[in-house]
Amino acid sequence: MNWEPLTRLQDQNSCVPDVLVVYGMDFGVPGLYSEQYLTTEELRLFESVKNADQKRIKMACRAATRWLLSVYLEVEPPFINFKVNRYGKPYLNSGSIEFNASHTETSFLIGISRFGRIGVDIESPDRNIDAGSIARYTLSPCEMRKYLQQPDQFYALWTRKEATFKALGTGIPENPHAHDHEILLKKHSLNCITFECPNKETASIVHRKTGFPTKTFIIR
Ligand SMILES: CC(C)(COP(=O)(O)OP(=O)(O)OC[C@H]1O[C@@H](n2cnc3c(N)ncnc32)[C@H](O)[C@@H]1OP(=O)(O)O)[C@@H](O)C(=O)NCCC(=O)NCCS
Repeated sequence: MNWEPLTRLQDQNSCVPDVLVVYGMDFGVPGLYSEQYLTTEELRLFESVKNADQKRIKMACRAATRWLLSVYLEVEPPFINFKVNRYGKPYLNSGSIEFNASHTETSFLIGISRFGRIGVDIESPDRNIDAGSIARYTLSPCEMRKYLQQPDQFYALWTRKEATFKALGTGIPENPHAHDHEILLKKHSLNCITFECPNKETASIVHRKTGFPTKTFIIR
């Protein structure tokens, strides 16, 4: 992945890419994480998050999402109206642009597309998890075969699968092993890219095939 500094996007507001991925981990960017971008309702919700790191990253992610969408929509960040589908996925009323976000404890990833469905997932490798039992519960037979051939690809497989469900808007269903993400991708004409993020997290982005390059930016 070629991570361009976000200032490049800020410099060319009139020419925003059709598919955009933004990674953030440094909270030192003045302005972009401003609470002024959030609504009173969001500030109240974030206030109730007990874990300080989680609260910080969720707020940063939402503020950055609003700022990025404001560049596309030319609407001030707190005045952008979000709706939430029955499974909890936020979306825009206008329907012209789709977006999705994912966070770890220290970083976040935001995807925006002018071409419909988009889903993103980012995971920090955790050496203490029991990948084998998670795999048995969550992966389809075909995904399981891939995992057994390359156990080190667990996070790649998992982020691909979660990003697929997030693009479809359902989130992870009750019986994830009954669904194969490659079949879902084909059925819905979706494309999946899996990559390593700057802080060694694994991430996947799922969106409609466009033929245009996905631009990736980093907030530093
Ligand atoms: C929603 C879900 C995908 C989140 O996964 P996670 O690994 O905990 O979190 P991530 O950091 O990857 O993603 C969180 C973001 O996904 C988005 N999201 C929430 N529900 C979503 C859905 N159904 N589809 C796509 N994106 C969703 C939100 O923007 C959320 O960020 P926010 O809480 O800061 O607004 C997962 O919890 C899930 O699938 N749950 C089951 C679906 C469900 O029943 N949700 C209950 C809401 S009614």
